Amino acid sequence: MSAFDSTVALIYLAAATSFVVGLHLMNSPATARRGNAVSATGMAVAIVTTGVVLIRDDVITAGSVIVLLAGLAVGAVAGLVGARRVKMTDMPQLVSLFNAVGGGAAALVALVEVVDGQGLGNTAVSLSLPTVLDVVIGAITFSGSLVAAGKLAGRVSGAPVTSALGRAAAVLLAVVAVVGSLVILTGHGGGSVLVVVGVAALGLGVLLTLPIGGADMPVVISLLNAFTGTAVAMAGFVLENTLLVVAGALVGAAGAILTLLMAEAMNRSLPSIMLGGFGTGDEAVATGAGGASVRETTTDDAALQLAYASKVVMVPGYGLAAAQAQHEMVDLATVLEAHGVEVSYGIHPVAGRMPGHMNVLLAEADVPYTQLRDLEEINGEFSRTDVVLVVGANDVTNPAARRPGNAVSGMPILDVDHAKSVIVIKRSMGHGYAGIENELYADPKTAMLFSDAKAGLRELRTALSAYVR
Ligand code: TAP
Repeated sequence: MSAFDSTVALIYLAAATSFVVGLHLMNSPATARRGNAVSATGMAVAIVTTGVVLIRDDVITAGSVIVLLAGLAVGAVAGLVGARRVKMTDMPQLVSLFNAVGGGAAALVALVEVVDGQGLGNTAVSLSLPTVLDVVIGAITFSGSLVAAGKLAGRVSGAPVTSALGRAAAVLLAVVAVVGSLVILTGHGGGSVLVVVGVAALGLGVLLTLPIGGADMPVVISLLNAFTGTAVAMAGFVLENTLLVVAGALVGAAGAILTLLMAEAMNRSLPSIMLGGFGTGDEAVATGAGGASVRETTTDDAALQLAYASKVVMVPGYGLAAAQAQHEMVDLATVLEAHGVEVSYGIHPVAGRMPGHMNVLLAEADVPYTQLRDLEEINGEFSRTDVVLVVGANDVTNPAARRPGNAVSGMPILDVDHAKSVIVIKRSMGHGYAGIENELYADPKTAMLFSDAKAGLRELRTALSAYVR
């Protein structure tokens, strides 16, 4: 090994180490930013080093340098502008789009390698397993992530889209992808069959993601994230680039762990989600709140109730993120605490629209990590709680989850209805992500304070100052 090669290998090793260290730092909100910076620096060093290797090996022409630089510029500008401009509430669809880009790029790498090597027409070659897997997984990730992004952005129906025809088409495409892959791997088909397999995989991505809806989307997003990493690792094998294999494997493994955690949080098995067995909303409306009347309260009454409480639990949900009302929630909590009220925050693992959404929001508002209680921990405390203040959370509090036959069935919920009283701040009787009525709202212990989360919390704090000194 030449001195140059050893230096490159060492730099790659350092970059891979920075990815692992970065991931480790992301374990806690306090160090997550640093973790991101460490990993990004490692990736920047890896990209520059790869550029230097390509130039040294003389494998790229002046034309391809221009193409590479143009691609780098377009990608960097799109990524920077997209990430800077994105609203916190649109972050999940941006992550989904990034997944799509990663999977699509990985699939293209394999196709380009085949075109460059033996051309599309040569059917007498056998392509390697990583090449085939790269195209299949990359294509499924690309189209599946686009559909997921569409669902999260509300451009594609968030409800499960199922039909017998869709299922039959999915089975047919899966057969085409598997048989085509076997034909390629046994040396009876080359690039052209790979293109057919890629197209079948693209269709499969769409048909596998469309039927998943309602409350199951978190699991699918993390699964697609795991797929992106796996496709990138396969691209690393195709290009014989160890660092790409390591980076892809890390993303794949982290995504797989997150998928299992999300499935556990939703009390779902992965096969049942992928086969569309859950979230299909057999019972369109979870009976209960549909026709039942709800009790409305005023800001003054709600403030009085809070002022006389000894223990209050705040339950934030997607609406808090949409209204960016985390600071107002914390301001209210601070006033209550100064008045001697014990305050904590009940965090559901899939509240909001992305994993850890509520933790990130509340960390941004400087809530001490010790005040954030996860589902198991806080559920035991609700029966001793005087007031639960639910702000923009809906599905994660719906008691309908305890019954079978609806879109949230089986999902562990925050048992807020076990508390002595519940105040819900939201703008209307609008549904949550799963699209069903929330039976909590018809509970006699529940009072609805119809308002935007930010304005409602502000007004509540002002009203509270009349009762607490
Ligand atoms: P949701 O069930 O989605 O309910 C959010 C509620 O917030 C809505 O009912 C809405 O009612 C209210 N809202 C919206 N804007 C508001 C505003 N400006 N002020 C006050 N309220 C506002 O939220 P959740 O309880 O957090 O549950 C999350 C759901 O999303 C689950 O079904 C979960 O499976 C799904 N999901 C989660 C993820 C991840 S990874 N966390 C990803 C995809 C999907 P109004 O319109 O009446 O105000």
